Amino acid sequence: MLVLGIETSCDETAAAVLEGEKSLLSNIIASQNEIHSRYGGIVPELAGRSHIERIDGVIKQALDAGNVSINDIDVIAATQGPGLIGSLLVGFNTAKAIAYATGKPLIGVNHLEGHLLAIFLEETVAFPYLALTVSGGHTDICRVNGFCDYRMLGRTRDDAVGESFDKVAKMLDCGYPGGPIIEKMARNGNAKAHKFPRAMLEKDSLDFSFSGLKTSVRNLLAKRKSGEGPQLSDEDIAACFQTAVTDVLVAKITAACDQEKLRRVVVTGGVASNGYLREKIRAAGAKHKFSVHIPSPVYCTDNAAMIACAGYYRFKTHPHARQFMALDAQANLAL
Ligand code: KG4
Ligand code: ZN
Repeated sequence: MLVLGIETSCDETAAAVLEGEKSLLSNIIASQNEIHSRYGGIVPELAGRSHIERIDGVIKQALDAGNVSINDIDVIAATQGPGLIGSLLVGFNTAKAIAYATGKPLIGVNHLEGHLLAIFLEETVAFPYLALTVSGGHTDICRVNGFCDYRMLGRTRDDAVGESFDKVAKMLDCGYPGGPIIEKMARNGNAKAHKFPRAMLEKDSLDFSFSGLKTSVRNLLAKRKSGEGPQLSDEDIAACFQTAVTDVLVAKITAACDQEKLRRVVVTGGVASNGYLREKIRAAGAKHKFSVHIPSPVYCTDNAAMIACAGYYRFKTHPHARQFMALDAQANLAL
């Protein structure tokens, strides 16, 4: 079975061709970083416009690189939501148009399900497992009982973890997207120079809160400017911030393993490409005896291979999903 995956939920225009479960024939990702970097964050209108300009070319590139034509494709899988509506509409309506013109089935994929199943592109993880999704829009812990069978156990009550990386990078005026930049700066910083707060919330809660941490960074920077408080370098701040975030993520996923009595953890989403987080979660897994499965960085950040993968399993589970004209992009699509 050949699946064409299409992803435009945020600021990556992406298309991929997947054959069967794991044979990825192509994976094209056109990043818009150069468009949004000067604003220190995504400008939704510019994202939508850029998707319109690029989507046809990106799909063609994916088909060409996979050495297939649209007629060879069996199923079209496109991100239906959640995400920026102006971005989602471009990829999803393009997918609808292709499905309508060719008579092929269309699967509307939840972007989060794409992240949850991205690991299956590279390895097969036994069900049930716990998934920690850490991206620019989401931070949650989910119990994955099987394909299409998910239970949300905790989520952020304010900022997503990737969003907090991006906001701290903006405060330090060091570019967008903030995650990879902060990670790089942190390598030259002293993580023990200052202790930022770690919000653990109520006992037994698997929810997250990162807005207080962000405010602490802002306050420290304001004090630094006026010559008060610890005079940390930008690199020290990056290291102390990254350590605080990682401590919370590691503590919560370890607590979730105990609560659910599960010993398998998948970490996914853009922030899961962070080397420090990967190392610390693996160390926690070794210490607390849970296995850790993290996709290669290219499948952690937004891509269409994971959408094709989720579409593949959804089509196998619900092969009758052909009423594509009734499907619409949804900014707040629930998992
Ligand atoms: O999953 P993703 O590509 O898009 C969303 O679905 O949101 O995640 C993007 C987020 C951004 O906030 C970005 O700063 C963050 O992932 N990110 C990282 C790293 N690479 C990307 N955060 C920390 N360290 C990284 N190396
Ligand atoms: Zn994402």
